[in-house]
Amino acid sequence: MEELLYQALETELGGVQVYATAIRCAQEDELKEEWTKYHEQTQNHVRIVKNIFEQLGLNLDKETPGRIIVRMKGQALVKAMESALEAGEPDAAQIVAAECVVDAETKDHMNWELIGMLAEKSHGDERKVLKEAHEQVEDEEDEHLYHTMGWTRELWIKALGLPAVIPPPEEEKDVKTAIGAARAKQERSKMLGSRGGQRKKAAAK
Ligand SMILES: [Fe+2]
Ligand SMILES: [Fe+2]
Repeated sequence: MEELLYQALETELGGVQVYATAIRCAQEDELKEEWTKYHEQTQNHVRIVKNIFEQLGLNLDKETPGRIIVRMKGQALVKAMESALEAGEPDAAQIVAAECVVDAETKDHMNWELIGMLAEKSHGDERKVLKEAHEQVEDEEDEHLYHTMGWTRELWIKALGLPAVIPPPEEEKDVKTAIGAARAKQERSKMLGSRGGQRKKAAAK
């Protein structure tokens, strides 16, 4: 359990840096707004994890091999985005950032899923502390991962010169589950049709 919590803390700390850099790469206003919100939420997740440490009497500064690896991966994501920014192709840098956020959030999402499972199996104070923390972040982690996955897919589709749904269906449908994400993805062609129709109507006016 301790190892998971140390990795969760490091994931959230890295996440703050990942979002700070990703925001600089965002070209679409709605995406920039979304990542700014997630950046703030991630800063709050750091506080929530630190609170778990305090409640359970764990040392925040203890290094574990797993924690160091998580930190290195976070730093690598930041470096990748900085290189993309330097390359001077804003649309490409935006896609790199979206992929980096998905990488970071895949780990973040899984950490919290595991913390939730652990809470169910725990007793006493530990159960209470883990459950409270989990309830506070669960929905936000779903949104961080599924919405950014949607953005990444649609930005790639746009880059390929194919009709993209921007903002992505995951956003419009406020997806918070893996099943919801799969459904939103399935409905994208329908959404393309209706948005195209709206555009045509607007053009006719
Ligand atoms: Fe988080
Ligand atoms: Fe997250």
